[in-house]
Amino acid sequence: MIEHLLKSVIRDVPDFPEPGIVFKDITPILQDPALCGAIVDSFVNRLTTGAIDVVAGIESRGFLFGLMLAQRLGKPFVPIRKQGKLPCRTIKQEYALEYGRATIEIHEDAFSPGARVLIHDDLLATGGTVVAASELIEQLGGQVAGYAFVIGLDFLKGHERLARYSSSVVTLANY
Ligand code: PRP
Ligand code: MG
Repeated sequence: MIEHLLKSVIRDVPDFPEPGIVFKDITPILQDPALCGAIVDSFVNRLTTGAIDVVAGIESRGFLFGLMLAQRLGKPFVPIRKQGKLPCRTIKQEYALEYGRATIEIHEDAFSPGARVLIHDDLLATGGTVVAASELIEQLGGQVAGYAFVIGLDFLKGHERLARYSSSVVTLANY
């Protein structure tokens, strides 16, 4: 089962990037091509979103499986990036992280108004990052079709903040 496989390779790194934070290191997953493929298969099998027009992935760890998922679905991929990285006209959203604050951006022409956008990131913690991403999608006239995460830190209750955008939330390894 995918959750068991993922938990057997995801590494806990205490006190990274700050004291008191236990970091979930996904780099061992990337060493296993079959497991990477199984992650994308599991997303496709578990999504209950209905139609998806676009997959959006959040820099940087949301790029790893985001493009793979978009390819598997045969849909365009849109990068949501940290401030100052996208070259054309953007809109921005600031948010609070589990550690610190940040701003993410999306190109204004990333998708057409009315598009149904699946948001992917590697990990759902407080939900601050994907709430900011969801606001960007809605500001551009898109509709959040659902969410796909490799890891959900359920004790931080981030999923409760997503309900107002979409009820379709997939997390493969839950802690
Ligand atoms: C991490 C993780 C998620 C986000 C989750 O990214 O990859 O994007 O934090 O936290 P939240 O649910 O509390 O918002 P980070 O900003 O550390 O950057 P990275 O992906 O570039 O490593
Ligand atoms: Mg991230």
